[in-house]
Amino acid sequence: MFPTHRPRRLRQTDTLRRMVREHQVTVNDLIYPLFAVPGEGVAQEVTSMPGVYQLSVDKIVEEAKEVRDLGIPAIILFGIPDNKDTEATGAWHDCGIVQKAATAVKAAVSDLTVIADTCLCEYTTHGHCGYLETGDLSGRVLNDPTLELLGKTAVSQAQAGADIIAPSGMMDGFVQAIRQALDAAGFTDTPILSYAAKYASAYYGPFRDAADSAPQFGDRRTYQMDPANGTEALKEVELDIQEGADMLMVKPALAYMDIIWRVKAITHLPVAAYNVSGEYSMVKAAALNGWIDEPQVVLETLTGFKRAGADLILTYHAKDAARWLG
Ligand code: PBG
Ligand code: ZN
Repeated sequence: MFPTHRPRRLRQTDTLRRMVREHQVTVNDLIYPLFAVPGEGVAQEVTSMPGVYQLSVDKIVEEAKEVRDLGIPAIILFGIPDNKDTEATGAWHDCGIVQKAATAVKAAVSDLTVIADTCLCEYTTHGHCGYLETGDLSGRVLNDPTLELLGKTAVSQAQAGADIIAPSGMMDGFVQAIRQALDAAGFTDTPILSYAAKYASAYYGPFRDAADSAPQFGDRRTYQMDPANGTEALKEVELDIQEGADMLMVKPALAYMDIIWRVKAITHLPVAAYNVSGEYSMVKAAALNGWIDEPQVVLETLTGFKRAGADLILTYHAKDAARWLG
């Protein structure tokens, strides 16, 4: 018997396929990460991330203009400070590198949304995302003292011009602490994009080269989530919603598509997926070897995030994707 139902009928032409297409990635979905370093005229390519650069503030401004001209609505700023210490001074100081970059970008490209990554790992000597008891060689990251530093960091980033605060350290109660600190400083309208479900992932390897933020001892498994857990992500998300998050992030993205889907199913807030450094580097490595078709693979991946339920995608491919989407 020949089949009665023939899904292929609707796949016959490009126009038909366009008519029944369910999901579409657009430039409006993209957020481009940038790494700010001290100095002037600095553009240092990250070895493990071809096409990604550590940029001094003047170069960040040039890059921000290019990003805006491509139609990408937002950047997220990470900072590599001159000096690291146990208090993560570089994170919350008014002259910190992210603060400087945010101010310069907003002055030059006011119509670009500037998101500040709010964490301590790039600024602490030990490279952990939180505060450690001085001299504590077991390296226990103290939750509540960290909250105070994160609040200070968020306020100084907002004062410097950051439009959105994105806490990434997976401390308990960090959304509430940051909301309270922002409100007390008058930033009641500054949204929080919480890294709500962030896993302890090996896919962050290249980022730690880019941000010089590898932990000097131990790992992040006492604060980032166990990759084996799914339901726990919903608990994290639930808490962040209660604490006042405006947007939620799942990170990494590719190995966690199910988490994106499950988070989207339980919230009415916008959901962002972070297509992390290791995911980028694998694609770039294969593409540079001529083993895959880079534009097609990238657009297929980004479309997959949308299909999984992501409203926004943080990706190092953003500029290329914007061009390919034309
Ligand atoms: C740390 C932080 C990480 C990333 C962004 N902020 C990961 C980590 O070192 O734990 C990863 C981003 C990427 O891999 O692209 N707060
Ligand atoms: Zn961190």
